[in-house]
Amino acid sequence: MTCCHLSTDQTIDGDTAFTVETSAITFGPGCLAEAGDVARELGIARIALVTDPLLAESDHVGVVLASLRTAGIDVAVYDQVRIEPTDVSFRAATDFARHGDVDGFISVGGGSVIDTTKAANLYTTHPADLLTYVNAPIGEGAAVPGPLRPHIACPTTSGTGSECTGIAVFDLLEMKAKTGIASKMIRPTRALIDPLVTASLPSPVVASSGFDVLSHALESYTARPFRHRPRAEPPAQRPSGQGANPWSDLGCAEALRLLGLYLERAVHDADDTEARHQVMWAATLAGIAFGNAGCHAPHGMSYSVAGMVQDFQPDGYPRSEPIVPHGMSVIVNSPSVFRATAPVDPQRHFQAARWLGVDAGSGAGEATDADAGELLAGRIIELMRATDMPNGLSGVGYGPDDIDSLTAGSLPQRRLLDNAPIKIDRAALVGLYRDALSYW
Ligand SMILES: NC(=O)c1ccc[n+]([C@@H]2O[C@H](COP(=O)([O-])OP(=O)(O)OC[C@H]3O[C@@H](n4cnc5c(N)ncnc54)[C@H](O)[C@@H]3O)[C@@H](O)[C@H]2O)c1
Ligand SMILES: [Fe+2]
Repeated sequence: MTCCHLSTDQTIDGDTAFTVETSAITFGPGCLAEAGDVARELGIARIALVTDPLLAESDHVGVVLASLRTAGIDVAVYDQVRIEPTDVSFRAATDFARHGDVDGFISVGGGSVIDTTKAANLYTTHPADLLTYVNAPIGEGAAVPGPLRPHIACPTTSGTGSECTGIAVFDLLEMKAKTGIASKMIRPTRALIDPLVTASLPSPVVASSGFDVLSHALESYTARPFRHRPRAEPPAQRPSGQGANPWSDLGCAEALRLLGLYLERAVHDADDTEARHQVMWAATLAGIAFGNAGCHAPHGMSYSVAGMVQDFQPDGYPRSEPIVPHGMSVIVNSPSVFRATAPVDPQRHFQAARWLGVDAGSGAGEATDADAGELLAGRIIELMRATDMPNGLSGVGYGPDDIDSLTAGSLPQRRLLDNAPIKIDRAALVGLYRDALSYW
């Protein structure tokens, strides 16, 4: 592995320590059936089970409901989560929770469901206007005043890692851009990660959420090192997006290695249990990693790619409204960004390409520092083509005329952009979007 950022050469005013936090995790086939026990252990008497309309009919929700009922826990079901949630859908879930008289939450679904549950828990426990806790400058960025009610998160996609992060993302409709809430207070209390859920995932969802995982790992591994971030004041208030650190590096390395081996197989064959379970484990590792390092430009840029969608309707997702699914909105930016960031730390970009499966025989052995970005971008593009991902921004409906608006939408995402290893200002964003228009 390249430099682990633990060297003693302290950078001027940079931080000197890093913090590792995550939800308590249970991982393994069949663990959804532990939901009732866990809820009882947490002292929950009446729980809100939050899910989306499609999953409401699934065996996964059935297993959780049966387990909760066997444990004698009263359940109020909310099954109206919007895929790619908005301020409107966050408010609707909050209204349900407010009137549900519940003392805990269980989310069964992908990132859309888990994030919605975090919001419903937050705004019923510490009521406020929606923008109060939303990241500045879009919201007020107010600190969450204290702990929330217990939340058991049960992810059903092999993707976001939301079950172990203190982040909730939504589309602010009036701005046509995504934004979010970031606070360790909103991190779920427990995560039940059951890889059996992946058997029913449509192939396009495995692909899109798998590329979310891939970019979480690549962005965390190449993020500004934690020693280069100015120290928080007081120091214990360091953000979860604290920069690359030795702990996050470990999770990124293994997640990338597993994705290099298994992502294509998991996308193409729902019966390939080994591949689907390994991608679920990669999602968990990358989730813990980015929850303690932070993503950077591909995610920052994705927020306007998703928010400004015109008429794109991908296979495998609900057809009710146009969306660019999260993983897709991220990965269309990634090759462009890693070509630009590689010169800052070529060895890290080389190493990431190797973990993803680029071997010495295909060029890495003889390659020089100048080739690092191209090798990494090339491998990402190869995986995108092999799994029917769109060909850059043009593949999800954008053209050169949209670059100014895409830039304006992502420029306020400073939490993410400032975690990049290069300076990301307006001019840099314009260049990155231009280079992301198409790749083949
Ligand atoms: N909070 C975080 O840390 C974080 C990180 C990354 C992304 N996100 C957010 O998560 C959201 C995306 O979540 P996602 O990619 O997990 O997908 P999702 O929750 O949007 O679900 C995608 C589709 O897959 C279906 N589905 C989910 N599980 C299934 C299963 N086991 N079988 C069959 N169908 C299933 C859903 O019904 C839906 O149609 C975005 O809003 C994104 O911004 C949050
Ligand atoms: Fe993501």
